[in-house]
Amino acid sequence: MTILALETSCDETAVAILRGSDRHSGSELLASEVASQITEHEKFGGVVPEVASRNHLLHAPRLLERVKDRAKIDMLEVDAFAATSGPGLASSLMIGASIAKGLAIGFGKPYLAINHLEGHLLSPFFSDGHIKPNVAIIVSGGHTMSILVRGLGDYQLIGRTVDDAAGEAFDKVAKLLGLGYPGGPEIEKHARNGDAARFDLPRSMPDSENFSFSGLKTAVRYLLPRIVGRRSSPPSSAADIAAQPELLRDLCASFQQAIVDVLVRKTIAAAQKHNVVLVTISGGVSCNEELRRQLRDACEQEGFEFKSAEPWLCTDNAAMIAFAAMLKLESGFASNVAEEIDPNLALVPSG
Ligand code: KG4
Ligand code: ZN
Repeated sequence: MTILALETSCDETAVAILRGSDRHSGSELLASEVASQITEHEKFGGVVPEVASRNHLLHAPRLLERVKDRAKIDMLEVDAFAATSGPGLASSLMIGASIAKGLAIGFGKPYLAINHLEGHLLSPFFSDGHIKPNVAIIVSGGHTMSILVRGLGDYQLIGRTVDDAAGEAFDKVAKLLGLGYPGGPEIEKHARNGDAARFDLPRSMPDSENFSFSGLKTAVRYLLPRIVGRRSSPPSSAADIAAQPELLRDLCASFQQAIVDVLVRKTIAAAQKHNVVLVTISGGVSCNEELRRQLRDACEQEGFEFKSAEPWLCTDNAAMIAFAAMLKLESGFASNVAEEIDPNLALVPSG
């Protein structure tokens, strides 16, 4: 079975072709391409929906040709076409979904509408293909949630952020500090060799299963002018801290540790409460080496197995969408081409 998938939920245009073999030998990724738009959005400090949408239109046809060439297959050999149908930016989602639907109709093959969050959620299992029950955390730029995964399609929400996502906090604090976009990798880079205990930053909602990161961002906002030596405010405080590399290192390390502490503590508590054997982590923020290391250590200490998505699968890509589509197709699921994209699509329907 061969699946072609598109991912255009935000600012990354991605196309992948995945071929499933028998269940025991897993699947083979024939091609996976991601066209990043970071340079286009960097100057605005975030994603501009219209710009993202136009770029998807420009990049998608080129990437489709490229994955077809790399995979050395003809479109006639594709058994199903999939696309992310939400959550995400409406004007971005509709590009990938329209292309996948058009191809499915044109070639007379099934169409699969895939939830972006389910793509992340299943990505730690990409290389072995078997979904085992687990407590998962998805930590990305748009989402932070913990989920009890009982099996494919059987998910229970444990907790989620009540304000900013963890990645959003990284991006906003990086902007305050005058660092580039996306902020996560920038803060991680500066945090290396920093003193994570130097600044006492808040760990919000310690007794809740939900998360909150907006207070942490605000704490950095108010701390910054005080520590740079004079009462300045952004953007001049960013220039001030840039001139003091040791301070910048320690602030980045302290901020990163505040996020890691909360994520590790709440994930372990959820795994203990729900009595699972396995903990998984996915989404862009799970690229963070310190987070992976500390969660792995905590799992080892508390007797849980730990599985993280491989770093290249953590940030947005179409391979994870193709993988989710393949598992769904194998279990007999296909979508109606009349199904609309849904910018607010939930992973676990509420109520
Ligand atoms: O999953 P993703 O590519 O897109 C969404 O679905 O949101 O995640 C992007 C987010 C950004 O906020 C980015 O700053 C963050 O992931 N990120 C990181 C790292 N790499 C990416 N955060 C912390 N440390 C990193 N190394
Ligand atoms: Zn994502």
